Amino acid sequence: MFPQPSVLITQDKIKQAVARLASEISRDYQGKQPLLIGILKGSFVFMADLIRELDLPVEVDFVKLSSYGAGTETLGKVKVVQGLNTKIKGRDVLVVEDIVDTGLTISFLMDYLKKKRPASLRLCVLTDKPSRHQVPVTIDYLGFNVPNKFIVGYGIDWNEKFRHLQDICYLD
Ligand code: IMP
Ligand code: MG
Repeated sequence: MFPQPSVLITQDKIKQAVARLASEISRDYQGKQPLLIGILKGSFVFMADLIRELDLPVEVDFVKLSSYGAGTETLGKVKVVQGLNTKIKGRDVLVVEDIVDTGLTISFLMDYLKKKRPASLRLCVLTDKPSRHQVPVTIDYLGFNVPNKFIVGYGIDWNEKFRHLQDICYLD
Protein backbone atom coordinates (compact mmCIF):
# COMPACT_ATOMS: atom_id res chain seq x y z
CA MET A 1 0.00 0.00 0.00
CA PHE A 2 1.23 3.51 -0.83
CA PRO A 3 1.97 5.33 2.45
CA GLN A 4 -0.05 8.40 3.38
CA PRO A 5 1.74 11.51 4.69
CA SER A 6 0.46 13.27 7.83
CA VAL A 7 1.52 16.84 8.64
CA LEU A 8 4.14 17.14 11.38
CA ILE A 9 5.46 20.69 10.85
CA THR A 10 3.46 23.21 8.83
CA GLN A 11 4.94 25.43 6.14
CA ASP A 12 4.40 28.47 8.40
CA LYS A 13 6.50 26.89 11.16
CA ILE A 14 9.17 25.97 8.61
CA LYS A 15 9.27 29.53 7.33
CA GLN A 16 9.71 30.86 10.88
CA ALA A 17 12.51 28.37 11.57
CA VAL A 18 14.32 29.22 8.33
CA ALA A 19 14.15 32.94 9.19
CA ARG A 20 15.48 32.24 12.70
CA LEU A 21 18.35 30.08 11.40
CA ALA A 22 19.22 32.65 8.73
CA SER A 23 19.41 35.43 11.28
CA GLU A 24 21.65 33.33 13.58
CA ILE A 25 23.91 32.48 10.63
CA SER A 26 23.99 36.06 9.30
CA ARG A 27 24.97 37.31 12.77
CA ASP A 28 27.69 34.68 13.31
CA TYR A 29 29.29 35.07 9.86
CA GLN A 30 29.18 38.85 9.67
CA GLY A 31 32.08 40.15 7.51
CA LYS A 32 32.68 36.65 6.11
CA GLN A 33 31.82 34.96 2.83
CA PRO A 34 30.82 31.45 3.86
CA LEU A 35 30.55 28.52 1.50
CA LEU A 36 27.34 26.59 2.11
CA ILE A 37 27.59 22.93 1.16
CA GLY A 38 24.27 21.18 0.69
CA ILE A 39 23.89 17.43 0.74
CA LEU A 40 21.92 16.21 -2.27
CA LYS A 41 19.23 15.68 -2.88
CA GLY A 42 17.25 16.21 0.32
CA SER A 43 18.66 19.62 1.29
CA PHE A 44 17.91 21.47 -1.95
CA VAL A 45 14.58 23.00 -0.91
CA PHE A 46 15.87 24.02 2.53
CA MET A 47 19.06 25.43 0.98
CA ALA A 48 17.07 27.45 -1.56
CA ASP A 49 14.92 29.06 1.14
CA LEU A 50 17.78 29.53 3.61
CA ILE A 51 20.16 31.40 1.30
CA ARG A 52 17.46 33.86 0.30
CA GLU A 53 17.02 34.86 3.97
CA LEU A 54 20.76 35.34 4.55
CA ASP A 55 22.28 38.76 4.69
CA LEU A 56 25.72 37.56 3.55
CA PRO A 57 27.66 37.18 0.29
CA VAL A 58 27.36 33.38 0.35
CA GLU A 59 28.49 30.83 -2.18
CA VAL A 60 26.94 27.39 -2.54
CA ASP A 61 28.10 23.95 -3.57
CA PHE A 62 26.65 20.46 -3.23
CA VAL A 63 27.85 16.95 -2.55
CA LYS A 64 26.01 13.74 -3.18
CA LEU A 65 26.48 10.88 -0.77
CA SER A 66 25.33 7.32 -1.05
CA SER A 67 22.22 7.02 1.07
CA TYR A 68 19.14 4.91 1.62
CA GLY A 69 18.14 2.53 -1.15
CA ALA A 70 14.56 1.37 -1.38
CA GLY A 71 14.12 0.84 2.37
CA THR A 72 14.17 3.16 5.35
CA GLU A 73 17.29 1.95 7.17
CA THR A 74 20.79 3.30 6.72
CA LEU A 75 23.00 1.03 4.63
CA GLY A 76 25.96 1.54 6.96
CA LYS A 77 28.82 2.58 4.71
CA VAL A 78 28.77 6.13 3.39
CA LYS A 79 30.47 7.21 0.15
CA VAL A 80 30.91 10.48 -1.72
CA VAL A 81 29.19 9.84 -5.05
CA GLN A 82 29.58 13.37 -6.42
CA GLY A 83 32.18 15.67 -4.93
CA LEU A 84 32.81 19.38 -4.53
CA ASN A 85 33.61 21.81 -7.32
CA THR A 86 34.96 24.40 -4.86
CA LYS A 87 38.29 24.39 -2.98
CA ILE A 88 37.43 24.58 0.70
CA LYS A 89 40.90 25.00 2.20
CA GLY A 90 40.81 28.22 4.25
CA ARG A 91 37.07 28.76 3.63
CA ASP A 92 34.34 29.19 6.22
CA VAL A 93 32.24 26.15 5.43
CA LEU A 94 28.66 25.59 6.59
CA VAL A 95 27.16 22.20 5.78
CA VAL A 96 23.40 22.18 5.17
CA GLU A 97 21.57 18.90 5.76
CA ASP A 98 17.88 18.00 5.66
CA ILE A 99 17.75 15.30 8.33
CA VAL A 100 20.03 13.56 10.80
CA ASP A 101 18.97 10.07 11.84
CA THR A 102 21.76 7.76 13.05
CA GLY A 103 24.28 10.55 12.40
CA LEU A 104 26.53 8.21 10.40
CA THR A 105 26.14 10.13 7.14
CA ILE A 106 26.83 13.56 8.57
CA SER A 107 29.71 12.48 10.80
CA PHE A 108 31.37 10.85 7.79
CA LEU A 109 30.99 14.03 5.74
CA MET A 110 32.21 16.34 8.52
CA ASP A 111 35.37 14.19 8.93
CA TYR A 112 35.87 14.14 5.16
CA LEU A 113 35.59 17.95 4.93
CA LYS A 114 37.74 18.58 8.01
CA LYS A 115 40.66 16.84 6.27
CA LYS A 116 40.52 19.50 3.56
CA ARG A 117 41.38 22.10 6.22
CA PRO A 118 38.63 24.72 5.99
CA ALA A 119 39.10 27.84 8.18
CA SER A 120 35.91 26.83 10.00
CA LEU A 121 33.38 24.05 9.66
CA ARG A 122 29.85 24.14 11.05
CA LEU A 123 26.61 22.25 10.54
CA CYS A 124 23.07 23.47 9.90
CA VAL A 125 20.35 20.81 10.07
CA LEU A 126 16.64 21.21 9.37
CA THR A 127 15.41 18.15 11.29
CA ASP A 128 17.10 15.90 13.81
CA LYS A 129 16.05 12.61 15.39
CA PRO A 130 18.17 12.73 18.58
CA SER A 131 16.78 9.41 19.86
CA ARG A 132 18.30 7.64 16.83
CA HIS A 133 21.91 8.88 17.01
CA GLN A 134 24.54 6.13 16.96
CA VAL A 135 27.49 8.54 16.96
CA PRO A 136 27.86 11.99 18.57
CA VAL A 137 26.83 14.83 16.24
CA THR A 138 27.35 18.54 16.94
CA ILE A 139 24.63 20.59 15.27
CA ASP A 140 25.43 24.32 15.28
CA TYR A 141 22.11 25.47 13.80
CA LEU A 142 19.03 23.27 14.23
CA GLY A 143 15.53 23.73 12.84
CA PHE A 144 13.54 21.03 14.63
CA ASN A 145 13.86 17.92 16.72
CA VAL A 146 11.52 15.29 15.27
CA PRO A 147 10.25 12.01 16.71
CA ASN A 148 11.44 8.63 15.51
CA LYS A 149 9.18 8.50 12.47
CA PHE A 150 9.87 8.45 8.75
CA ILE A 151 9.89 12.06 7.56
CA VAL A 152 9.04 13.36 4.07
CA GLY A 153 8.31 16.66 2.35
CA TYR A 154 10.07 20.01 1.92
CA GLY A 155 12.75 18.24 -0.15
CA ILE A 156 12.86 15.02 1.89
CA ASP A 157 11.81 11.85 0.09
CA TRP A 158 10.60 8.32 0.45
CA ASN A 159 11.73 6.42 -2.65
CA GLU A 160 12.09 9.76 -4.49
CA LYS A 161 8.46 10.62 -3.70
CA PHE A 162 6.96 13.42 -1.56
CA ARG A 163 9.82 15.93 -1.98
CA HIS A 164 7.32 18.49 -3.28
CA LEU A 165 5.15 18.63 -0.13
CA GLN A 166 5.13 22.11 1.43
CA ASP A 167 4.88 20.80 4.99
CA ILE A 168 7.20 18.40 6.78
CA CYS A 169 5.18 15.21 7.12
CA TYR A 170 5.60 11.69 8.45
CA LEU A 171 4.56 8.41 6.92
CA ASP A 172 2.48 5.84 8.75
P1 IMP B 1 21.81 8.86 8.92
O1 IMP B 1 23.15 8.55 8.31
O2 IMP B 1 21.18 7.65 9.53
O3 IMP B 1 21.87 10.03 9.87
O4 IMP B 1 20.83 9.21 7.76
C1 IMP B 1 20.96 10.38 7.06
C2 IMP B 1 20.28 10.34 5.72
O5 IMP B 1 19.30 9.31 5.62
C3 IMP B 1 19.58 11.64 5.50
O6 IMP B 1 20.41 12.57 4.86
C4 IMP B 1 18.40 11.23 4.64
O7 IMP B 1 18.80 11.24 3.29
C5 IMP B 1 18.11 9.83 5.07
N1 IMP B 1 17.05 9.78 6.09
C6 IMP B 1 17.18 9.56 7.42
N2 IMP B 1 16.00 9.60 8.05
C7 IMP B 1 15.09 9.87 7.09
C8 IMP B 1 13.67 10.08 7.13
O8 IMP B 1 12.98 10.02 8.16
N3 IMP B 1 13.09 10.36 5.93
C9 IMP B 1 13.80 10.44 4.77
N4 IMP B 1 15.11 10.27 4.70
C10 IMP B 1 15.76 9.99 5.85
MG1 MG C 1 20.24 13.66 3.20
